[in-house]
Amino acid sequence: MQKLQITDADIAEFNHLVRGIKFFAAMNMGLLEKILAHVSIYGFKKGENVCRQGDPGDSFYVVREGKLKVTIREAFFFSRTVAQLGPGNCFGEMALLNGKPRNATVSCEEDAKVFMLLAESFNEVLRQNPSFKAEINKLASEREFENIHNK
Ligand code: CMP
Repeated sequence: MQKLQITDADIAEFNHLVRGIKFFAAMNMGLLEKILAHVSIYGFKKGENVCRQGDPGDSFYVVREGKLKVTIREAFFFSRTVAQLGPGNCFGEMALLNGKPRNATVSCEEDAKVFMLLAESFNEVLRQNPSFKAEINKLASEREFENIHNK
């Protein structure tokens, strides 16, 4: 994992990507600008983990580029892939919302770049934007449901 210098092109892409995410779309420019001040960008190599099942949740992520997979360890020797994520998809919301450890490992199937927002900024967005809060809660419940029922 490598912290990258955030460029104007990254900021423009963040704006573009998050507008495509339903719950960011309703966000006013002022709030989006505030968020941008707290966004960082990290580069990951193929095979690297962005977050690991069981770890405490400290941040929220939006994929800038690359393909990632979400896996859940069922037993010591067996993991199940529950989803693939690509540009514009977000992850890491579940542990932040429910205060539990990460429920899955997210790893890179190819080299990837990922925007990261620390928990503190994520919580600030929740406080300031009830529709974001409602939508992200909905996404987390849908993912939880999927993980339980698609075994
Ligand atoms: P969190 O538990 O914080 O860390 C692992 C993340 O993987 C989780 O938040 C979700 O963002 C993501 N995740 C878990 N299950 C799924 C799923 N079924 N589909 C997409 N993403 C998922």
